[in-house]
Amino acid sequence: MAKLAVNVDHVATLREARRINEPDPVTAAALAELAGAEGIVVHLREDRRHIKERDVYILRKTVKTNLNLEMAAAEEIIKIALDVKPDISTLVPERREELTTEGGLDVAGQQEKIAEVVKRLQDGGIKVSLFIDPDPHQIKAAKEVGADMIELHTGRYADARGEEQERELARLLEAVKYAHEMGLVVKAGHGLNYVNIHPLAKVKEIYEFSIGHSIVARAVLVGFERAVREMVEILRLYERG
Ligand code: PXP
Repeated sequence: MAKLAVNVDHVATLREARRINEPDPVTAAALAELAGAEGIVVHLREDRRHIKERDVYILRKTVKTNLNLEMAAAEEIIKIALDVKPDISTLVPERREELTTEGGLDVAGQQEKIAEVVKRLQDGGIKVSLFIDPDPHQIKAAKEVGADMIELHTGRYADARGEEQERELARLLEAVKYAHEMGLVVKAGHGLNYVNIHPLAKVKEIYEFSIGHSIVARAVLVGFERAVREMVEILRLYERG
């Protein structure tokens, strides 16, 4: 069964709507783990729009599974990562005006810089994942810069409909196969929900899914534990030895 890593950024988004101390993403992370999540993901953005340093430092102490820090390859954040020492750092592109991470990291176009950041983080004892589009050039570059794993961007698949969605799915499946054959651990995420996860949950080479918005959205209505458990149950439908 693929693992589920839950991104709790949007619990912090709700907190920041009032700039007070609730709801707490740290509490949500604990509930997610109790409900079967095997990883907790937070994105410490340069503009600190949701997750703050305080969250990351407390989560480092409280998360019992894996803490995955999503981050831009920016000096300030690299220093924080090397101090916090999450289990995994996921390098993502970041633009201040975007609503969420919009595209994959261009590893092929800045191979030297990314290789250096990957090495610094790995030397600090952190495994490095690169968030990339399902594109063979980017996958090859991710392997060349020494990443431990990749996370394939599923956003285009999630946003597409009908035949276009079928094409995006086929593209993702090819990318998964190619990366897996290259020896990379393959994860996937962005825009996944309780409906569009099904075709991907069947794919045995996908090690883990990283899901945030749809789980937090459901949690507002049914509770955090139930929302996480319902996603874990979907993944369990496709249990694969
Ligand atoms: N993976 C990465 C690298 C992301 O940046 C995000 C969004 O923060 C996600 C997964 C989760 O996406 P969503 O919130 O759409 O489930």
